[in-house]
Amino acid sequence: MPRSRPNKGWDVRIAVIPGDGVGVEVTAEAIKVVRAAAAVFGHSLDFEMLPWSADHYLATGVTIPSDGYNRLREFDAIFIGALGDPRVPDNRHARDILLGTRFELDLYVNYRPVRLLDERLCPLKGRTPADVNFVVFRENTEGLYVGIGGRFKPGTADEVAIQEEINTFKGVDRIVRHAFEFARATGRTRVCMADKSNAMVDGHALWQRVFRDVAARYPDLQARHLYIDALALLMVQDPSQFEVIVTNNLFGDIITDLGAALQGGLGVAASGNLHPGRTSMFEPVHGSAPPLAGKNIANPIGAILSAALMLDYLGRRDEARAVEAAVARAVSERQGTPDIGGSLGTHETGDYIASAVRKVEGDTWRNQKF
Ligand code: IPM
Ligand code: MN
Repeated sequence: MPRSRPNKGWDVRIAVIPGDGVGVEVTAEAIKVVRAAAAVFGHSLDFEMLPWSADHYLATGVTIPSDGYNRLREFDAIFIGALGDPRVPDNRHARDILLGTRFELDLYVNYRPVRLLDERLCPLKGRTPADVNFVVFRENTEGLYVGIGGRFKPGTADEVAIQEEINTFKGVDRIVRHAFEFARATGRTRVCMADKSNAMVDGHALWQRVFRDVAARYPDLQARHLYIDALALLMVQDPSQFEVIVTNNLFGDIITDLGAALQGGLGVAASGNLHPGRTSMFEPVHGSAPPLAGKNIANPIGAILSAALMLDYLGRRDEARAVEAAVARAVSERQGTPDIGGSLGTHETGDYIASAVRKVEGDTWRNQKF
């Protein structure tokens, strides 16, 4: 990532919110792997565990304490497992903890790389890792997620449900600029913006205008516009045409699940919620998966790769590369959970990757290109 939080030295403090369900299990493995990487490079990492979760909410009535967001700002980074529990049907705690942190810390960039690690994980015929390697920048602080709306005469035949979509110049401009900056800084040349301006003629006209104006300032980059439905089609037909995609909050949510499918499933997809230069939050794309919880079967790779994004963001690039290389090795050797063709449990996959991190020191990771 081109713009990281200012390097405050090698001692970093990370807030960890394991959350609910499999979030707890995959977080433990991500921490294990990150600790192994830090040890290899002689750096320290300090983790503070925060109990905010469905259990905590049900026991205390508190989703996130009133000073919670301010406490989070004191850390160098935040790592989240997953939130969501059938005992909290309105998902209130997830809204406060996950969406609340995105909004309160103004983490406007949802960075979701889509990278196929092994050909056999791709559900498309004949596609190789060279064909599936792009990043999605999802606007993360507005759109349909702002919670503005209401219900009139709920529960009756006259019910009216309104959910407003907010697009601001500031919000659209900063995410679109981030996409172009990222492309330029990482040697990518193609930036695609997806909206639905043929139907949402007001809200998405703003995306059109901003994209045109920003693109004009990057004449070295190829700017392309697609309607979101066409993008979904082309992501499946030929994902190799994409390098950087930028879109709004809801569309980004949807197409990153599609992207996760292209790279081997939700279990391997990673993400960062960023405000460049500020405390940012990292989480696997998957949810808490209640039916899988407590069985030692969830794939920890999405969490581990999210932790690698966190290390990268913190300026610890060698550690990040070492973790990514260890994951690539585990995948190619089928040392993982059944969804990636292995027969290991969550815990054993974490052990394998942690020991691979120790082995890759001074070995192949230096030449790995990610
Ligand atoms: C994600 C999730 C969240 C979202 C849910 C849990 C609210 O699906 O991070 O992609 O929609 O942003
Ligand atoms: Mn999602």
